[in-house]
Amino acid sequence: MEYGNFNDITIKEDAIILAIESSCDETACAVIKGGREILSSVINSSATEHIKFGGVVPEIASRAHTTAISITVEQAIKDANITLNDIDAIAVTYGAGLVGALLVGVSYAKSLAQALNKPLIPVNHIRGHLSAIYLTDKNLKPPFISVLASGGHTAIMLVKSYYDYQVIGQTLDDAVGEAFDKVARTLGLSYPGGPNIERVAKQGQNNIPLPKMLKGKGLDFSYSGLKTAILSYINTKKMKGEQINASDVACSFQRSAIDVIVDKAIKSAKQYKIDTITAGGGVVANGYLRESLTNACLQNNIKCYIPPKNLCTDNAYMIGAEGYIQYKNKNFAYLSLNAKASISLE
Ligand code: KG4
Ligand code: ZN
Repeated sequence: MEYGNFNDITIKEDAIILAIESSCDETACAVIKGGREILSSVINSSATEHIKFGGVVPEIASRAHTTAISITVEQAIKDANITLNDIDAIAVTYGAGLVGALLVGVSYAKSLAQALNKPLIPVNHIRGHLSAIYLTDKNLKPPFISVLASGGHTAIMLVKSYYDYQVIGQTLDDAVGEAFDKVARTLGLSYPGGPNIERVAKQGQNNIPLPKMLKGKGLDFSYSGLKTAILSYINTKKMKGEQINASDVACSFQRSAIDVIVDKAIKSAKQYKIDTITAGGGVVANGYLRESLTNACLQNNIKCYIPPKNLCTDNAYMIGAEGYIQYKNKNFAYLSLNAKASISLE
């Protein structure tokens, strides 16, 4: 039988989607019903294997995915208490991410889709981060402003409908997660840098003067200036033979990096007359960001939706949530689907 023509299938409101994610160091699989209900979720991470290298090593990540993918998918099916026949479609992250890592998930999903003769749904990882929010409230609907803060992207999006996104502000250089990771490395904190900066910052004070250039008039961001300011502060201290208080550096950096995101999110909501802000991406697991955004929304009478921390960092639930949106739009892939290192946000 020829595979790939699913244009005539009847779309089910309560479709069961098996979602696979392998874009970085997490091999993840989830089963999602009707786009909003999590039946199961399994994550096998190779994060500990990368610690001694100070960051994700693509070859190690790919090999770990190859070892973990079958057991991860089998476990997710078992935990959801379903059989392969109950699956209506298979969603898979095809980008953005490490190509070798992505290919493991994409190849597995293609084989499964072909064997079951079910639609294959190509999912953009970044959209997945933003769609994770649909799993937190069954009644949440666009339009809203969405704050994307991850390791590879920092942007403010106007989500006009489930399918229609507009980038209204974005970083002109580094992503905020990248800045967290770089500053962490400079302070001698281990990978992953973001959570370690947050932990160390709790003991510190916001007492290091950092550039105000981030508070520009538009909705775009820039993190390279902040990163350079931190580096030059540390180098100057070292040259003078003075002690560096890592907690104060972490605290001051965290504030500077996050305050601008919160300011611009509120500004966007006002500018576009939108009464709801949502957020997604690994950096949204940061406690200071969560608290600041919640408080700023409260003060400005804006509804705020922030996913629980386990829905912010990489997972497959979010791929299932976004996969459901693409399923309803009948955006199916052929077996020629390939992994892509980068994909446009819109
Ligand atoms: O969204 P994500 O899991 O992967 C990408 O799609 O990029 O984001 C990973 C990024 C890393 O830079 C990591 O350091 C950062 O999210 N991150 C955090 C925290 N947890 C993860 N940054 C600040 N505070 C955290 N608690
Ligand atoms: Zn991610």
